[in-house]
Amino acid sequence: MKIPESHIIVIFGASGDLTKRKLIPAIYQLYINHLLPSNFAILGTSRTPLSDEEFCERIIEFLPSQKETDPSFLNRLFYQSIDYHENNDYIKLKERLAGLSQNLNIAPNYLFYLSTPPNLYDVIPEKLALANLHLQKDGFKRLIIEKPFGNTLESAKSLNISLLKNYEENQIYRIDHYLGKETVQNLMVTRFANGIFEPLWNRNFICRVEITSAESLGVEGRGGYYDQSGAMRDMIQNHLLQMVGLVAMEPPVVIEANAIRHEVMKVFQSLRPIKPEEMHKQIIRGQYTASTIKGVATPGYRDEPGVDPASHTETYVAMKFFIDNWRWAGVPFYIRTGKKLPTRVTEIVIEFKPAPHHLFDQNGQNQNNSNQLIIRIQPDEGLLIKFNMKEPGSGFKVNQVNMDFHYSELSGITLPAAYERLLLDCLLGDATLYSRGDTVEAAWSFIQPILDAWSNDTTIPIYGYPAGTWGPYESDELIEGDKTWRYPCKNLADDGLYCEL
Ligand code: BG6
Repeated sequence: MKIPESHIIVIFGASGDLTKRKLIPAIYQLYINHLLPSNFAILGTSRTPLSDEEFCERIIEFLPSQKETDPSFLNRLFYQSIDYHENNDYIKLKERLAGLSQNLNIAPNYLFYLSTPPNLYDVIPEKLALANLHLQKDGFKRLIIEKPFGNTLESAKSLNISLLKNYEENQIYRIDHYLGKETVQNLMVTRFANGIFEPLWNRNFICRVEITSAESLGVEGRGGYYDQSGAMRDMIQNHLLQMVGLVAMEPPVVIEANAIRHEVMKVFQSLRPIKPEEMHKQIIRGQYTASTIKGVATPGYRDEPGVDPASHTETYVAMKFFIDNWRWAGVPFYIRTGKKLPTRVTEIVIEFKPAPHHLFDQNGQNQNNSNQLIIRIQPDEGLLIKFNMKEPGSGFKVNQVNMDFHYSELSGITLPAAYERLLLDCLLGDATLYSRGDTVEAAWSFIQPILDAWSNDTTIPIYGYPAGTWGPYESDELIEGDKTWRYPCKNLADDGLYCEL
């Protein structure tokens, strides 16, 4: 296992939720797994005035119980308050970094993690550059930018332009935490390390692809942010389209950042734009309404704190689209995401064309259910193949059965958290699992006309769906033929009627 060079991670927005819930626990986990060098430090920064000790006290409650926390980790935590707009504070930051480097014998390798409100994503890198904290002559200087990377195509483009004024593309790491999920990375291995799947992975054998990312939670105190964003910006523009990229791409020449991102880019360039007159047939948006879930009264989206009581923001999107290239011509892709759905599940369903001749039809009833490969991203991570077999007994009655693999069956293996993998990769200079600037813009180019249509055309409906249900029933009508979405359960192998919620 490669270990990064000595370094300091500077977290902007260190008093925020992400730092406490995800970043510090991920760095701690890397530390106790011996994946960090012996010389490293973390410098938290934010507007709040705090001493190093006070910062430690705030952080400690997000680490494993105090008794188990390795105290030598806490000795590496430092803090400096900053006014993000004040040039002089970046000079002070530079001096603090130089002091820490010298005292702790750390080379001037700095990773700047921007976990701040998005309006600072161009300010901080620019101010760092004014203080020459972008120059790599004596050590690496990298930026991690959290999502959302822009909230329109235009703003994403101007953020890229602003960053590229002072930084090389290979210094900029645009994070999409879905790419850090072990099971999302396994998509490439499933496709390209198995002789049985890839020959079938095209329009000749696959009749549709379906991706669901359902959440049972609502907006959980993030109403203010979410109401300006909505499911299209929050989930589809980034996480779901990145999964589409990995499912649909051509085999990369090598497993290396640019080779993979190049293939994803080609997929995004082949997305067939959805015309205004097709939108009502290809996209369904919804918003959850009040209901009772398992006997508990649940408020509707418009009653959530921070949300406009007349909000038209979508908490659910289902859409159908096509990828106009040689491999996928004519194959519909269906994707959907939503909040307050019955269960939390993310999965990809590859549905194969049925056998061409229905040998086992009984009384005119076609018994050939299509084979499906289900790639479960979370929870109950694994793979499921649905295939037909003969029901034992006389005659030829055909039934669909499951062949399934669950990660939980691998002994002694825990799936690393997405942030652990992504932070480690960035420290090692590997951008494979980060989004490149041009792919982010290409994803926006596909989404922006839809957002424009929604804001300009008030006749496009937004359907209500009771919290705790699978979204507006209109989304079933998107699916071609007499099919519906797969209605998945918490457990990979269950679907349909039985459902553990
Ligand atoms: C985030 C979104 O990017 O992803 C959240 O902003 C969403 O709204 C979350 O809840 C889902 O991530 P995960 O890893 O829980 O599926």
